[in-house]
Amino acid sequence: MKVLNFGSLNIDYVYRVEEFVRAGETLTAKDRRVFAGGKGLNQSLAMARAGVTVFHAGAVGKEDGGFLLRTLDESQVDRRHVRTLEAVASGHAMITVNRRGENTIMLYGGANQRITEAHVRRVLADFSPGDFLVLQNEINQLDLLIRIGHEGGLKIVLNPSPMTAALKEAPLDLVDYLILNQVEAGDLCPGATRENLMEALIKRYPGTALLLTLGEGGACLHHQGATRFQKAFQVKTVDTTGAGDTFTGYFVAGLVQGLEEGEALERAARAAALAVTREGASDSIPDLDQVLGFDFK
Ligand code: RIB
Repeated sequence: MKVLNFGSLNIDYVYRVEEFVRAGETLTAKDRRVFAGGKGLNQSLAMARAGVTVFHAGAVGKEDGGFLLRTLDESQVDRRHVRTLEAVASGHAMITVNRRGENTIMLYGGANQRITEAHVRRVLADFSPGDFLVLQNEINQLDLLIRIGHEGGLKIVLNPSPMTAALKEAPLDLVDYLILNQVEAGDLCPGATRENLMEALIKRYPGTALLLTLGEGGACLHHQGATRFQKAFQVKTVDTTGAGDTFTGYFVAGLVQGLEEGEALERAARAAALAVTREGASDSIPDLDQVLGFDFK
């Protein structure tokens, strides 16, 4: 069974501030750091650091993409399906992190939004029924990826982030695993309350395994009629950027490795908790031995 992640690669410019800038206000950042990121790249790295062989597909710009390609190489992610484009900038994100470790993110799509239909068809032709296809919503061609992936018998995992109006119209009923937070779930199920969000998702996507992340409230998985909860491990928050990607990557890696779903969930929660204690997105993703060895009080 192979794992393909067709997703974004971003250069993250991370600015530390006391409080977020308000409209019309000018603030000076305490520092600026540059990390490799993008929900796609982060999730590929999380799966690789969890011990799974991952193929990443996507696009970067020729001028500035070298750093992102090297990051994939350093974590042994197979990048034969990443295209390097002339005269296009790589995707990037402007991230501010406040003193509580919360963030705001503004994306520039760049090469992530230049995925062609030919690229999608060529890459998917290399994968077979039963292989995993992991997707987020930071690249174009998402509808096509879902349709062709489904026709090809791939197991589709979608993290519908960031949520957009176009994504709500995508064929989400063809997705096997939907991994989303409360805000995204609320956007897909307007009118649902916090209390009945999972119920509303089940009604809307009856054939899909649903994994709802609840921040400090943990996570809730509904699959084949059964619902299980996973608590969040308590840690001192430094930077929440990339914690959701760490959770998604570790959960999928657990499924690929044949773990029972409850075990995959616990591993994902441990990994995400560790990610929150570190700065940056991809830089904050722990290795499996750190995840298994950490003693959460
Ligand atoms: O989920 C965190 C990621 O979101 C960052 O790495 C940034 O690039 C944006 O894609």
